Amino acid sequence: MKKIIAITRGDGCGPEVVNEGIKILKTISEFTDYEFEFNDAPAGGEVWKKHGVNLPEKSFDIIKKSDALLFGAIGLPDLKPGVAESAILKLRQGLDLFVNLRPVKLYNTLREICPLKDEFIGDGIDITFVRENTEGLYKNIGKLEENSAENLMLYTRKGCERIIKFGFEYAKRMGHSKVTSVDKANILKPSQLWRKIFHEIGDNYSNLETEDIYIDAFCQWLIRAPYKFQTVVTGNMFGDIISDEAAFLIGSLGMASSGNIHPGKVSMYEPIHGSAPDIAGKGIANPIGTILSVKLMMEESFNSLDIGNEIDKAVEAALHEGRTVDIKSKNLKTLSTIEMGDLIAIKLKNSLKA
Ligand code: NAI
Ligand code: MG
Repeated sequence: MKKIIAITRGDGCGPEVVNEGIKILKTISEFTDYEFEFNDAPAGGEVWKKHGVNLPEKSFDIIKKSDALLFGAIGLPDLKPGVAESAILKLRQGLDLFVNLRPVKLYNTLREICPLKDEFIGDGIDITFVRENTEGLYKNIGKLEENSAENLMLYTRKGCERIIKFGFEYAKRMGHSKVTSVDKANILKPSQLWRKIFHEIGDNYSNLETEDIYIDAFCQWLIRAPYKFQTVVTGNMFGDIISDEAAFLIGSLGMASSGNIHPGKVSMYEPIHGSAPDIAGKGIANPIGTILSVKLMMEESFNSLDIGNEIDKAVEAALHEGRTVDIKSKNLKTLSTIEMGDLIAIKLKNSLKA
């Protein structure tokens, strides 16, 4: 099975973590029927400095012709905010990547560094956020004037239906028992439409319990009883905020993965962290967020749930033996970015060979 993967390394620690993601893809191709061709599609701040554009036409063409995109992170401290980063919005809008999938799983071995007390972690944290990625306030329809400013929170039936349906299908595929919708239907009209559609669609999934929670209450439940949630569907802005809050619970920003997805089309997989200028070039960035983004790619773009599961197990096994500095443990060896990637690749190799 040949797959073409576009690679955007980006800025700062982006190239360092992407290399480890590629290492995992190469391990997969060595021990399974997959064959990967990697094509560089440069984008971001360094590219902007050279060419005056953050997503060159040529890169976008390479991405459009690929089966999936592995993306590092972009942004440079000496550029104005947005100069590099707007390339991400161009990709989301340009490829109509309406699903932002963000799993938040606390590995058991990292319970000790989770900022929550053990009683609040309960049975453990394993939540997947399904965030709408193209509508609402982030469409950026509005105006900024001297004494007032406005943005339009526009949601369409089509936009709500496709993301909510994805959420239910995801929950079904993962064997979840409940789908939670997060909104603000007591105040916002788009949330009232969202909630209505959530239940219309939910009625077709008799094996899945449905639950609605207001965003403000959800923020509290997320740290008080995160074990209650499985699949959580929500709009663009709420999803942006709560998925970052949730990422904090799993030990480090460097652990969190994401997919920007349009099922059946070119989708983009990236760690949720940024270019981390404070640690870039030091070889200490945690590559696990990127490696788990490769897991998402295998599952969502290539329908290989079994390989995704093997990557998950390899990460867990590696965490018992060594740690990057952001999740360090005094009883385990501290590893560099490359060493962490090597260790996970070895674990994966052993299980794929078996
Ligand atoms: P950041 O996520 O780059 O860093 C926040 C903190 O987390 C830093 O202390 C950093 O060292 C740490 N960190 C991040 N990734 C890590 C990893 N893999 N391993 C260990 N520690 C890690 O966020 P920040 O500093 O707010 O943004 C830096 C630049 O990245 C900015 O230009 C920002 O706009 C951009 N950015 C880009 C994103 C993207 O490409 N998708 C997402 C978020 C920010
Ligand atoms: Mg965010």
